[in-house]
Amino acid sequence: MLHDKDFEYYEKLAHWSFDEYDCYSESLTDWDLYEILKSVVTPDSHVLDLGTGGGEKLLANFPDCAEIVGTDYSPNMVATALENLAKSGRKNITFKVMDNLHMDVPDNHFDVVVARHTCIDAEQIFRCLKPGGYLLIRGVDKYDCWDLKKTVGYGQGFDDPVPISIVDYENVLAAGFRDVELVPLHEREFFKDAETFKAFLGVVPILDHMPEDDSLDKYIAKNTYSGRVRLLRNCYGITARK
Ligand SMILES: C[S@@+](CC[C@H](N)C(=O)[O-])C[C@H]1O[C@@H](n2cnc3c(N)ncnc32)[C@H](O)[C@@H]1O
Repeated sequence: MLHDKDFEYYEKLAHWSFDEYDCYSESLTDWDLYEILKSVVTPDSHVLDLGTGGGEKLLANFPDCAEIVGTDYSPNMVATALENLAKSGRKNITFKVMDNLHMDVPDNHFDVVVARHTCIDAEQIFRCLKPGGYLLIRGVDKYDCWDLKKTVGYGQGFDDPVPISIVDYENVLAAGFRDVELVPLHEREFFKDAETFKAFLGVVPILDHMPEDDSLDKYIAKNTYSGRVRLLRNCYGITARK
């Protein structure tokens, strides 16, 4: 299997939980992936979670149903997910290694496919959904943390000619989905202090390296409120049906 440049990063990290960084967030948009998921899942549902990471979000937020499959191309992420599953005591959940771009799942099998903060191939997702099945996407793209990225001059998706939200939206439409909706999601995150904020930036892929000049300190000075550092997040949600 050929891997993209992010693969080694995810393999090394082997989890997707940042609870240790003291931060709270405020959503400015009334759109919640897990609320939507809960509204469409029934006890008989078969659900696929693409790019599941260490399964942390799946185990905490996916409702019980007939089958939940979490997949990730990083074997170390899947190993963490299996450990988290054993600790959770939850049933009807499996995790397996799978590349989202080379999906290995049956056709017309799932009632819901979730892709949170990961890449997708809309045509392959379309194939594995039952007629009437739902696709739920939450993503991060070019304009996420835009003020920070502009201040330091680079960052995740910074040079993308077209934001990935628009690429995903077009691809979902082109794959044949109906009722396709793209929603911009706005959030404010507040970190305990500059040290916590810098430590967080050191582990997440928002900036692929820390700036060598004083631009990050300038951003922090401009975005500190009552001692807390603010980060403006711009994500997107997509819902669609087969
Ligand atoms: C940002 S994390 C999100 C994890 C989880 N979905 C969540 O929302 O907490 C992205 C995950 O997608 C996985 N990933 C990235 N590209 C992938 C691909 N082509 N196929 C499968 N998994 C992929 C990474 O290994 C990583 O675990």
